[in-house]
Amino acid sequence: MHHHKLKDLPHDFLWGAASAAYQVEGAWDADGKGPSVWDLFTKLPGKTFEGSNGDVAVDHYHRMAEDVALMAEMGLKAYRFSVSWPRIYPTGRGEVNEAGLAFYEKLIDTLLAHQIEPVLTLYHWDLPQALQEEYGGWEDRRIIADFELYCVTLYQRFAGKVKYWVSLNEQNYNLTNAYQLGTHPPAVQDRKRFFAANHIAFLANARVIKAFRQHVPNGLIGPSFAYSPAYPASCDPKDMLAYENAEEFNNLWWLDAYCFGRYPQAALAYLRENGEAPEILPGDLALLREGTPDYIGVNYYYTLTYTDNPLGGQTLQRINTTGKKGTTPSSGIPGLYKTAPNPHLETSNWDWAIDPTGMRIALRRLSSRYGLPLMITENGLGEFDKLEAGDKINDEYRIDYLRSHVVACQEALQDGVELLGYCAWSFTDILSWLNGYQKRYGFVYVERDERGGSLRRIKKASFHWYSQLIASQGKQR
Ligand code: BG6
Repeated sequence: MHHHKLKDLPHDFLWGAASAAYQVEGAWDADGKGPSVWDLFTKLPGKTFEGSNGDVAVDHYHRMAEDVALMAEMGLKAYRFSVSWPRIYPTGRGEVNEAGLAFYEKLIDTLLAHQIEPVLTLYHWDLPQALQEEYGGWEDRRIIADFELYCVTLYQRFAGKVKYWVSLNEQNYNLTNAYQLGTHPPAVQDRKRFFAANHIAFLANARVIKAFRQHVPNGLIGPSFAYSPAYPASCDPKDMLAYENAEEFNNLWWLDAYCFGRYPQAALAYLRENGEAPEILPGDLALLREGTPDYIGVNYYYTLTYTDNPLGGQTLQRINTTGKKGTTPSSGIPGLYKTAPNPHLETSNWDWAIDPTGMRIALRRLSSRYGLPLMITENGLGEFDKLEAGDKINDEYRIDYLRSHVVACQEALQDGVELLGYCAWSFTDILSWLNGYQKRYGFVYVERDERGGSLRRIKKASFHWYSQLIASQGKQR
Protein backbone atom coordinates (compact mmCIF):
# COMPACT_ATOMS: atom_id res chain seq x y z
CA MET A 1 0.00 0.00 0.00
CA HIS A 2 1.29 3.41 -0.88
CA HIS A 3 -0.04 6.29 1.20
CA HIS A 4 -0.49 9.90 0.13
CA LYS A 5 -0.05 11.30 3.58
CA LEU A 6 1.16 9.75 6.80
CA LYS A 7 -0.96 9.97 9.92
CA ASP A 8 0.42 11.85 12.90
CA LEU A 9 1.90 9.79 15.68
CA PRO A 10 -0.08 9.60 18.92
CA HIS A 11 0.82 12.26 21.48
CA ASP A 12 1.94 9.78 24.09
CA PHE A 13 4.18 7.91 21.64
CA LEU A 14 7.31 6.79 23.46
CA TRP A 15 10.30 8.15 21.56
CA GLY A 16 13.08 6.30 23.24
CA ALA A 17 16.54 4.84 23.19
CA ALA A 18 17.86 1.65 24.74
CA SER A 19 20.83 -0.03 26.39
CA ALA A 20 21.71 -3.15 28.36
CA ALA A 21 23.53 -3.44 31.68
CA TYR A 22 26.58 -5.41 30.55
CA GLN A 23 27.05 -3.22 27.50
CA VAL A 24 27.13 0.13 29.31
CA GLU A 25 27.56 -0.12 33.07
CA GLY A 26 31.08 -1.36 33.70
CA ALA A 27 31.74 -1.46 37.47
CA TRP A 28 31.62 -5.20 37.05
CA ASP A 29 32.44 -5.99 40.69
CA ALA A 30 31.37 -2.76 42.41
CA ASP A 31 29.16 -2.51 45.49
CA GLY A 32 28.68 -6.21 46.02
CA LYS A 33 27.86 -7.24 42.45
CA GLY A 34 28.52 -10.92 41.73
CA PRO A 35 30.06 -12.13 38.47
CA SER A 36 27.81 -12.87 35.51
CA VAL A 37 28.48 -15.50 32.86
CA TRP A 38 29.69 -12.69 30.57
CA ASP A 39 32.28 -11.49 33.10
CA LEU A 40 33.96 -14.88 32.79
CA PHE A 41 33.26 -15.71 29.16
CA THR A 42 34.80 -12.53 27.75
CA LYS A 43 38.08 -13.32 29.53
CA LEU A 44 38.48 -16.66 27.74
CA PRO A 45 40.86 -16.32 24.78
CA GLY A 46 39.33 -15.74 21.35
CA LYS A 47 35.70 -15.30 22.38
CA THR A 48 35.16 -11.60 21.57
CA PHE A 49 36.58 -9.06 19.12
CA GLU A 50 40.13 -8.34 20.29
CA GLY A 51 39.24 -9.73 23.70
CA SER A 52 36.97 -6.77 24.51
CA ASN A 53 34.90 -7.01 27.70
CA GLY A 54 32.49 -5.02 29.85
CA ASP A 55 34.65 -4.54 32.95
CA VAL A 56 34.48 -0.78 32.36
CA ALA A 57 32.20 -0.65 29.28
CA VAL A 58 31.21 3.02 28.96
CA ASP A 59 31.22 3.43 32.75
CA HIS A 60 27.54 4.29 32.89
CA TYR A 61 27.44 3.02 36.47
CA HIS A 62 29.54 5.99 37.55
CA ARG A 63 28.28 8.44 34.90
CA MET A 64 24.56 7.79 35.17
CA ALA A 65 23.70 11.39 36.06
CA GLU A 66 25.67 12.76 33.10
CA ASP A 67 24.03 10.26 30.73
CA VAL A 68 20.51 11.01 31.92
CA ALA A 69 21.24 14.75 31.65
CA LEU A 70 22.09 14.15 27.98
CA MET A 71 18.81 12.24 27.51
CA ALA A 72 16.92 15.15 29.03
CA GLU A 73 18.75 17.61 26.80
CA MET A 74 17.76 15.52 23.81
CA GLY A 75 14.11 15.48 24.88
CA LEU A 76 13.92 11.69 25.10
CA LYS A 77 10.52 10.38 26.25
CA ALA A 78 11.59 6.85 27.22
CA TYR A 79 14.78 5.06 28.19
CA ARG A 80 15.02 1.30 28.04
CA PHE A 81 17.72 -0.22 30.25
CA SER A 82 18.29 -3.62 31.81
CA VAL A 83 18.89 -4.64 35.39
CA SER A 84 21.86 -6.87 36.05
CA TRP A 85 20.60 -9.88 38.00
CA PRO A 86 23.94 -10.44 39.81
CA ARG A 87 23.88 -6.83 41.09
CA ILE A 88 20.61 -7.65 42.87
CA TYR A 89 21.42 -11.26 43.84
CA PRO A 90 25.22 -11.69 43.59
CA THR A 91 24.91 -15.48 43.58
CA GLY A 92 21.55 -15.62 41.83
CA ARG A 93 19.35 -15.91 44.94
CA GLY A 94 19.56 -15.68 48.74
CA GLU A 95 20.42 -12.31 50.26
CA VAL A 96 19.38 -9.30 48.23
CA ASN A 97 22.14 -6.74 47.63
CA GLU A 98 20.64 -3.40 48.62
CA ALA A 99 23.40 -1.41 46.88
CA GLY A 100 22.38 -2.96 43.58
CA LEU A 101 18.74 -2.01 44.02
CA ALA A 102 19.77 1.47 45.11
CA PHE A 103 21.66 2.06 41.85
CA TYR A 104 18.58 1.29 39.73
CA GLU A 105 16.33 3.24 42.06
CA LYS A 106 18.54 6.30 41.55
CA LEU A 107 18.50 5.78 37.79
CA ILE A 108 14.69 5.45 37.74
CA ASP A 109 14.21 8.48 39.98
CA THR A 110 16.55 10.56 37.83
CA LEU A 111 14.67 9.54 34.68
CA LEU A 112 11.30 10.35 36.25
CA ALA A 113 12.57 13.71 37.44
CA HIS A 114 13.15 14.52 33.75
CA GLN A 115 9.80 13.09 32.60
CA ILE A 116 11.56 10.19 30.89
CA GLU A 117 9.54 6.96 31.06
CA PRO A 118 11.68 4.06 32.30
CA VAL A 119 11.35 0.79 30.33
CA LEU A 120 12.90 -1.88 32.51
CA THR A 121 14.33 -5.10 31.03
CA LEU A 122 14.55 -7.88 33.59
CA TYR A 123 17.06 -10.03 31.73
CA HIS A 124 19.50 -9.04 29.03
CA TRP A 125 21.78 -12.09 29.10
CA ASP A 126 23.96 -11.47 32.19
CA LEU A 127 23.05 -14.59 34.16
CA PRO A 128 24.68 -14.94 37.60
CA GLN A 129 27.72 -17.18 37.10
CA ALA A 130 26.83 -19.00 40.34
CA LEU A 131 23.63 -20.39 38.77
CA GLN A 132 25.49 -21.51 35.67
CA GLU A 133 27.92 -23.42 37.86
CA GLU A 134 25.37 -24.77 40.32
CA TYR A 135 22.87 -26.27 37.90
CA GLY A 136 23.72 -25.22 34.36
CA GLY A 137 21.59 -22.06 34.25
CA TRP A 138 18.79 -22.26 31.67
CA GLU A 139 19.18 -26.03 31.35
CA ASP A 140 17.64 -26.70 34.75
CA ARG A 141 14.07 -26.02 35.87
CA ARG A 142 15.36 -24.68 39.18
CA ILE A 143 16.08 -21.45 37.35
CA ILE A 144 12.33 -20.76 37.10
CA ALA A 145 11.95 -20.18 40.84
CA ASP A 146 15.22 -18.24 41.09
CA PHE A 147 14.28 -15.97 38.21
CA GLU A 148 10.86 -15.40 39.75
CA LEU A 149 12.35 -14.42 43.11
CA TYR A 150 14.64 -11.90 41.38
CA CYS A 151 11.83 -10.45 39.26
CA VAL A 152 9.40 -10.19 42.17
CA THR A 153 12.06 -8.30 44.13
CA LEU A 154 12.12 -5.73 41.32
CA TYR A 155 8.32 -5.67 40.99
CA GLN A 156 7.93 -4.96 44.69
CA ARG A 157 10.54 -2.25 44.68
CA PHE A 158 9.59 -0.46 41.44
CA ALA A 159 5.90 -1.20 40.82
CA GLY A 160 4.90 2.36 41.66
CA LYS A 161 7.53 3.92 39.41
CA VAL A 162 7.91 1.73 36.33
CA LYS A 163 5.01 1.03 34.01
CA TYR A 164 6.73 -0.68 31.04
CA TRP A 165 8.66 -3.90 31.60
CA VAL A 166 10.49 -6.30 29.31
CA SER A 167 10.82 -9.89 30.54
CA LEU A 168 13.49 -11.73 28.51
CA ASN A 169 15.52 -9.87 25.90
CA GLU A 170 16.03 -11.84 22.70
CA GLN A 171 15.72 -15.30 24.18
CA ASN A 172 15.84 -16.53 20.56
CA TYR A 173 19.10 -14.83 19.63
CA ASN A 174 20.85 -15.34 22.96
CA LEU A 175 20.06 -19.05 23.35
CA THR A 176 20.78 -19.80 19.67
CA ASN A 177 24.23 -18.31 20.20
CA ALA A 178 24.63 -20.02 23.58
CA TYR A 179 23.51 -23.56 22.63
CA GLN A 180 23.70 -23.87 18.84
CA LEU A 181 26.50 -21.64 17.59
CA GLY A 182 28.57 -21.77 20.78
CA THR A 183 29.27 -18.04 20.55
CA HIS A 184 27.62 -16.90 23.82
CA PRO A 185 28.20 -18.52 27.22
CA PRO A 186 28.07 -21.42 28.01
CA ALA A 187 29.25 -21.99 24.39
CA VAL A 188 27.50 -25.30 23.76
CA GLN A 189 26.72 -26.71 20.30
CA ASP A 190 23.93 -29.21 20.81
CA ARG A 191 20.44 -28.83 19.32
CA LYS A 192 18.70 -31.08 21.81
CA ARG A 193 20.11 -29.10 24.73
CA PHE A 194 19.22 -25.91 22.90
CA PHE A 195 15.53 -26.76 22.58
CA ALA A 196 15.43 -28.02 26.16
CA ALA A 197 16.96 -24.83 27.62
CA ASN A 198 14.76 -22.71 25.40
CA HIS A 199 11.64 -24.49 26.69
CA ILE A 200 12.67 -23.79 30.27
CA ALA A 201 13.19 -20.14 29.37
CA PHE A 202 9.59 -20.03 28.07
CA LEU A 203 8.37 -21.42 31.38
CA ALA A 204 10.39 -18.84 33.32
CA ASN A 205 9.07 -16.09 31.08
CA ALA A 206 5.47 -17.16 31.65
CA ARG A 207 5.97 -17.52 35.41
CA VAL A 208 7.28 -14.00 35.83
CA ILE A 209 4.53 -12.56 33.65
CA LYS A 210 2.00 -14.37 35.83
CA ALA A 211 3.59 -12.94 38.97
CA PHE A 212 3.66 -9.50 37.37
CA ARG A 213 -0.13 -9.38 37.29
CA GLN A 214 -0.25 -9.57 41.08
CA HIS A 215 2.54 -7.17 41.83
CA VAL A 216 2.27 -4.57 39.06
CA PRO A 217 -1.42 -4.60 38.16
CA ASN A 218 -1.24 -1.35 36.20
CA GLY A 219 1.94 -2.15 34.30
CA LEU A 220 2.57 -3.74 30.93
CA ILE A 221 5.03 -6.56 30.34
CA GLY A 222 6.27 -8.56 27.37
CA PRO A 223 9.42 -10.20 26.02
CA SER A 224 11.62 -8.47 23.43
CA PHE A 225 11.96 -10.70 20.42
CA ALA A 226 14.78 -10.44 17.87
CA TYR A 227 12.56 -10.51 14.80
CA SER A 228 14.22 -10.97 11.44
CA PRO A 229 11.24 -11.58 9.15
CA ALA A 230 11.88 -14.29 6.57
CA TYR A 231 11.64 -13.65 2.82
CA PRO A 232 11.72 -16.28 0.06
CA ALA A 233 14.62 -15.86 -2.40
CA SER A 234 12.21 -16.39 -5.30
CA CYS A 235 8.69 -17.59 -6.12
CA ASP A 236 10.04 -21.08 -6.80
CA PRO A 237 7.85 -23.24 -4.52
CA LYS A 238 11.06 -24.76 -3.12
CA ASP A 239 12.14 -21.33 -1.94
CA MET A 240 8.66 -20.60 -0.62
CA LEU A 241 8.83 -23.76 1.45
CA ALA A 242 12.30 -22.83 2.72
CA TYR A 243 10.88 -19.46 3.75
CA GLU A 244 7.93 -21.13 5.52
CA ASN A 245 10.37 -23.41 7.33
CA ALA A 246 12.57 -20.50 8.37
CA GLU A 247 9.67 -18.37 9.59
CA GLU A 248 8.34 -21.27 11.63
CA PHE A 249 11.66 -22.46 13.11
CA ASN A 250 13.27 -19.07 13.65
CA ASN A 251 10.33 -16.86 14.55
CA LEU A 252 6.99 -18.57 15.23
CA TRP A 253 8.71 -21.11 17.50
CA TRP A 254 9.11 -18.25 19.97
CA LEU A 255 6.23 -15.98 19.11
CA ASP A 256 3.55 -18.72 19.17
CA ALA A 257 4.94 -20.07 22.44
CA TYR A 258 4.86 -16.61 24.05
CA CYS A 259 1.49 -15.50 22.72
CA PHE A 260 -0.50 -18.70 22.10
CA GLY A 261 1.21 -21.07 24.55
CA ARG A 262 1.94 -23.67 21.90
CA TYR A 263 4.63 -24.65 19.42
CA PRO A 264 4.08 -24.46 15.65
CA GLN A 265 3.03 -27.78 14.21
CA ALA A 266 5.46 -28.59 11.40
CA ALA A 267 8.52 -27.57 13.41
CA LEU A 268 7.41 -29.61 16.43
CA ALA A 269 6.72 -32.66 14.23
CA TYR A 270 10.16 -32.34 12.64
CA LEU A 271 11.94 -32.04 15.99
CA ARG A 272 10.06 -35.02 17.43
CA GLU A 273 11.06 -37.10 14.45
CA ASN A 274 14.68 -36.07 14.98
CA GLY A 275 14.63 -36.64 18.74
CA GLU A 276 15.36 -32.95 19.37
CA ALA A 277 11.98 -31.77 20.69
CA PRO A 278 11.88 -30.35 24.21
CA GLU A 279 10.32 -32.37 26.98
CA ILE A 280 6.88 -30.91 27.64
CA LEU A 281 5.64 -31.92 31.09
CA PRO A 282 1.99 -31.86 32.18
CA GLY A 283 1.12 -28.29 33.11
CA ASP A 284 3.82 -26.66 30.97
CA LEU A 285 1.56 -25.48 28.17
CA ALA A 286 -1.11 -24.39 30.65
CA LEU A 287 1.52 -22.22 32.35
CA LEU A 288 2.50 -20.69 29.00
CA ARG A 289 -1.12 -19.78 28.39
CA GLU A 290 -1.41 -18.19 31.83
CA GLY A 291 1.66 -16.06 31.24
CA THR A 292 1.09 -14.46 27.85
CA PRO A 293 2.36 -10.91 27.31
CA ASP A 294 0.53 -7.57 27.28
CA TYR A 295 2.56 -6.41 24.31
CA ILE A 296 5.41 -7.70 22.15
CA GLY A 297 8.76 -5.95 22.25
CA VAL A 298 10.30 -6.00 18.79
CA ASN A 299 14.03 -5.78 18.22
CA TYR A 300 14.31 -5.22 14.51
CA TYR A 301 17.56 -4.84 12.59
CA TYR A 302 17.20 -6.73 9.28
CA THR A 303 15.27 -9.26 7.24
CA LEU A 304 16.72 -12.60 6.12
CA THR A 305 16.15 -14.19 2.73
CA TYR A 306 15.94 -17.96 2.39
CA THR A 307 16.35 -20.57 -0.27
CA ASP A 308 16.11 -24.33 -0.53
CA ASN A 309 18.80 -26.33 1.29
CA PRO A 310 18.96 -30.07 0.53
CA LEU A 311 19.89 -32.73 3.08
CA GLY A 312 23.67 -32.69 3.43
CA GLY A 313 23.66 -28.98 2.51
CA GLN A 314 24.73 -25.80 4.25
CA THR A 315 25.02 -25.86 8.07
CA LEU A 316 24.76 -23.10 10.69
CA GLN A 317 27.55 -20.52 10.44
CA ARG A 318 28.84 -17.76 12.70
CA ILE A 319 28.09 -14.10 12.07
CA ASN A 320 30.52 -11.42 10.90
CA THR A 321 32.14 -9.90 13.99
CA THR A 322 34.88 -7.91 12.26
CA GLY A 323 33.03 -5.31 10.16
CA LYS A 324 34.75 -6.62 7.02
CA LYS A 325 31.92 -6.31 4.50
CA GLY A 326 31.01 -9.39 2.50
CA THR A 327 32.52 -11.96 4.86
CA THR A 328 29.27 -13.51 6.15
CA PRO A 329 28.74 -17.02 4.74
CA SER A 330 25.35 -18.54 3.96
CA SER A 331 23.97 -20.29 7.04
CA GLY A 332 21.23 -22.89 7.31
CA ILE A 333 19.82 -26.19 8.47
CA PRO A 334 20.21 -29.01 5.96
CA GLY A 335 16.84 -30.14 4.68
CA LEU A 336 15.05 -26.98 5.85
CA TYR A 337 16.51 -23.71 4.56
CA LYS A 338 19.64 -21.63 4.09
CA THR A 339 20.16 -17.89 3.83
CA ALA A 340 20.72 -16.20 0.48
CA PRO A 341 21.75 -12.63 -0.31
CA ASN A 342 18.90 -10.25 -1.17
CA PRO A 343 19.91 -8.41 -4.35
CA HIS A 344 17.40 -5.63 -3.64
CA LEU A 345 18.97 -4.50 -0.38
CA GLU A 346 22.11 -2.64 0.68
CA THR A 347 23.99 -3.98 3.67
CA SER A 348 25.99 -2.51 6.54
CA ASN A 349 29.68 -3.26 6.99
CA TRP A 350 28.64 -6.18 9.18
CA ASP A 351 26.51 -7.52 6.27
CA TRP A 352 23.17 -6.71 7.88
CA ALA A 353 20.53 -5.95 5.21
CA ILE A 354 19.09 -2.45 5.49
CA ASP A 355 15.36 -2.89 5.02
CA PRO A 356 12.88 -0.40 6.47
CA THR A 357 10.01 -2.03 4.55
CA GLY A 358 10.96 -5.22 6.39
CA MET A 359 10.17 -3.45 9.63
CA ARG A 360 6.72 -2.50 8.40
CA ILE A 361 6.20 -6.11 7.34
CA ALA A 362 7.41 -7.30 10.74
CA LEU A 363 4.98 -5.05 12.59
CA ARG A 364 2.07 -6.05 10.39
CA ARG A 365 2.76 -9.77 10.67
CA LEU A 366 2.96 -9.59 14.45
CA SER A 367 -0.02 -7.33 14.90
CA SER A 368 -2.35 -9.34 12.72
CA ARG A 369 -1.29 -12.75 14.03
CA TYR A 370 -1.32 -11.94 17.74
CA GLY A 371 -3.57 -8.90 18.06
CA LEU A 372 -1.29 -7.32 20.63
CA PRO A 373 0.20 -3.84 20.93
CA LEU A 374 3.83 -3.66 19.86
CA MET A 375 6.82 -1.64 20.94
CA ILE A 376 10.03 -1.30 18.96
CA THR A 377 12.43 -2.01 21.80
CA GLU A 378 15.52 -1.90 19.55
CA ASN A 379 16.33 -0.64 16.07
CA GLY A 380 19.53 0.96 14.90
CA LEU A 381 22.67 0.83 12.81
CA GLY A 382 26.02 -0.46 14.04
CA GLU A 383 28.80 1.26 12.11
CA PHE A 384 32.34 2.58 12.33
CA ASP A 385 32.10 6.25 13.36
CA LYS A 386 34.83 8.82 12.96
CA LEU A 387 35.56 11.49 15.54
CA GLU A 388 36.58 14.53 13.53
CA ALA A 389 38.19 17.86 14.35
CA GLY A 390 36.08 20.07 16.61
CA ASP A 391 34.45 17.04 18.24
CA LYS A 392 32.21 16.29 15.27
CA ILE A 393 30.75 12.92 14.33
CA ASN A 394 28.87 13.11 11.03
CA ASP A 395 26.86 9.90 11.18
CA GLU A 396 24.58 10.74 8.24
CA TYR A 397 24.31 7.03 7.39
CA ARG A 398 22.78 6.41 10.83
CA ILE A 399 20.33 9.28 10.39
CA ASP A 400 19.29 7.82 7.01
CA TYR A 401 18.80 4.41 8.57
CA LEU A 402 16.75 5.70 11.50
CA ARG A 403 14.71 8.11 9.38
CA SER A 404 13.61 5.38 6.98
CA HIS A 405 12.66 3.11 9.86
CA VAL A 406 10.67 5.82 11.62
CA VAL A 407 8.74 6.28 8.37
CA ALA A 408 8.11 2.52 8.37
CA CYS A 409 6.65 2.86 11.89
CA GLN A 410 4.30 5.57 10.69
CA GLU A 411 3.25 3.44 7.75
CA ALA A 412 2.61 0.52 10.09
CA LEU A 413 0.43 2.75 12.25
CA GLN A 414 -1.48 3.66 9.13
CA ASP A 415 -1.86 -0.07 8.47
CA GLY A 416 -3.64 -0.39 11.81
CA VAL A 417 -0.78 -1.55 14.01
CA GLU A 418 -0.93 -0.42 17.63
CA LEU A 419 2.59 0.84 18.28
CA LEU A 420 3.44 2.09 21.76
CA GLY A 421 6.88 3.46 21.05
CA TYR A 422 10.18 3.32 19.27
CA CYS A 423 13.42 2.77 21.17
CA ALA A 424 16.48 3.30 19.05
CA TRP A 425 19.48 1.17 19.84
CA SER A 426 21.38 2.75 21.49
CA PHE A 427 21.61 5.98 23.51
CA THR A 428 25.35 6.15 24.10
CA ASP A 429 27.81 3.94 22.28
CA ILE A 430 27.97 0.54 23.91
CA LEU A 431 30.05 -2.63 23.96
CA SER A 432 28.77 -4.79 21.14
CA TRP A 433 28.90 -8.29 22.68
CA LEU A 434 31.10 -10.00 20.10
CA ASN A 435 32.12 -6.99 17.99
CA GLY A 436 33.95 -4.88 20.54
CA TYR A 437 33.68 -1.09 20.79
CA GLN A 438 34.28 -0.42 17.11
CA LYS A 439 30.72 -1.32 16.12
CA ARG A 440 28.95 1.81 17.35
CA TYR A 441 25.23 2.41 17.68
CA GLY A 442 24.81 5.49 19.90
CA PHE A 443 23.51 9.02 19.50
CA VAL A 444 26.30 9.89 21.91
CA TYR A 445 29.85 8.94 21.02
CA VAL A 446 31.99 7.55 23.80
CA GLU A 447 35.70 8.05 23.36
CA ARG A 448 37.10 4.61 23.94
CA ASP A 449 38.24 1.58 21.95
CA GLU A 450 39.00 -2.08 22.71
CA ARG A 451 41.82 -1.03 25.04
CA GLY A 452 40.24 1.92 26.83
CA GLY A 453 40.04 5.70 26.49
CA SER A 454 38.92 8.92 28.12
CA LEU A 455 35.22 7.84 28.16
CA ARG A 456 34.28 11.39 27.21
CA ARG A 457 30.73 11.80 25.83
CA ILE A 458 30.33 13.64 22.52
CA LYS A 459 27.02 14.28 20.74
CA LYS A 460 26.84 12.91 17.19
CA ALA A 461 24.93 14.55 14.33
CA SER A 462 22.23 11.92 14.90
CA PHE A 463 21.74 13.25 18.46
CA HIS A 464 20.57 16.60 17.12
CA TRP A 465 18.49 14.97 14.40
CA TYR A 466 16.63 12.70 16.83
CA SER A 467 16.09 15.56 19.24
CA GLN A 468 14.41 17.58 16.52
CA LEU A 469 12.36 14.60 15.39
CA ILE A 470 11.01 14.12 18.91
CA ALA A 471 10.27 17.82 19.38
CA SER A 472 8.26 17.85 16.13
CA GLN A 473 6.39 14.62 17.04
CA GLY A 474 7.91 12.80 14.11
CA LYS A 475 7.13 15.50 11.56
CA GLN A 476 10.57 16.98 11.04
CA ARG A 477 12.41 14.02 9.68
C1 BG6 B 1 20.57 -7.19 19.96
C2 BG6 B 1 20.85 -7.07 21.42
O1 BG6 B 1 20.94 -8.48 19.56
O2 BG6 B 1 21.17 -6.37 19.07
C3 BG6 B 1 21.78 -5.93 21.77
O3 BG6 B 1 19.71 -7.06 22.22
C4 BG6 B 1 22.84 -5.81 20.70
O4 BG6 B 1 22.28 -6.17 23.04
C5 BG6 B 1 22.15 -5.42 19.42
O5 BG6 B 1 23.88 -4.93 20.99
C6 BG6 B 1 23.08 -5.26 18.24
O6 BG6 B 1 23.81 -6.42 18.03
P1 BG6 B 1 25.38 -6.36 17.90
O7 BG6 B 1 25.83 -7.76 17.78
O8 BG6 B 1 25.67 -5.55 16.67
O9 BG6 B 1 25.88 -5.67 19.13
